[in-house]
Amino acid sequence: RSYQAIILAAGRGKRMKTGENKQFINISGRPLILHTLDVFLQDSWCTAITLVVNPKDEERMRGLLESVSSHKDIRLVMGGEERQQSVFCGLKSMKGYTGIVFIHDGARPFVANDHLHALAEATVENRAALLAVPVTDTIKQVVNGRLRTLDRKTLWAAQTPQSFDFELIYQIHQQAAGQGILGTDDASLAEHFGYDVGIVQGSYHNIKITTPEDLGKAQAFFGK
Ligand code: CTP
Ligand code: MG
Repeated sequence: RSYQAIILAAGRGKRMKTGENKQFINISGRPLILHTLDVFLQDSWCTAITLVVNPKDEERMRGLLESVSSHKDIRLVMGGEERQQSVFCGLKSMKGYTGIVFIHDGARPFVANDHLHALAEATVENRAALLAVPVTDTIKQVVNGRLRTLDRKTLWAAQTPQSFDFELIYQIHQQAAGQGILGTDDASLAEHFGYDVGIVQGSYHNIKITTPEDLGKAQAFFGK
């Protein structure tokens, strides 16, 4: 099995409140984005990486990549205002590719190899699949001040990577852009257009580093 990965690093990291893109935050001695890249550089199933960056960070990212020693192809692509636009920029740069593409948040450095492989296997069956974990909290829905409790047995927290047959997700993003549809993740666009998305149970370790509180958890995971 093999896949190519789009790794998204073109956000601003506003909720991290450090005044710079959180991808550059030092965690256990290295910038966050290098930890995430490492996972894919070390996975033999990953054949190439498209790293989507904020144009403001281009120089700094290129500098970081110089310290990366790998035979794997890492292509730098400029992203957009919204995450979905950044994904589309990545996809457009890969036009003509046929195979499996993983779309992954640069802010998730803890995804495990066996889950990457399970996800790739699931994509062969489904053409679209994602990593997710069962929700452990009781989720309340509040509409006009009225509470409702959702059935936890049916609830999953979506993670990345989300994985697709390249031609399928390219066409889905083209349609979404054409119709002005903005989704919170790539699977939601596939769902919107009526495609079945396979679910692969991942790990609670695969957190997205989003707020300052997450930095403490990340250091703990790295054992430092
Ligand atoms: N991302 C991106 N392009 C954007 C927005 C987000 O590539 N226009 C990437 C981020 O760099 C991140 C991932 O998508 O790796 C998940 O997004 P999120 O955690 O929301 O990161 P930011 O958008 O950077 O953070 P914030 O929302 O707090 O500003
Ligand atoms: Mg964001």
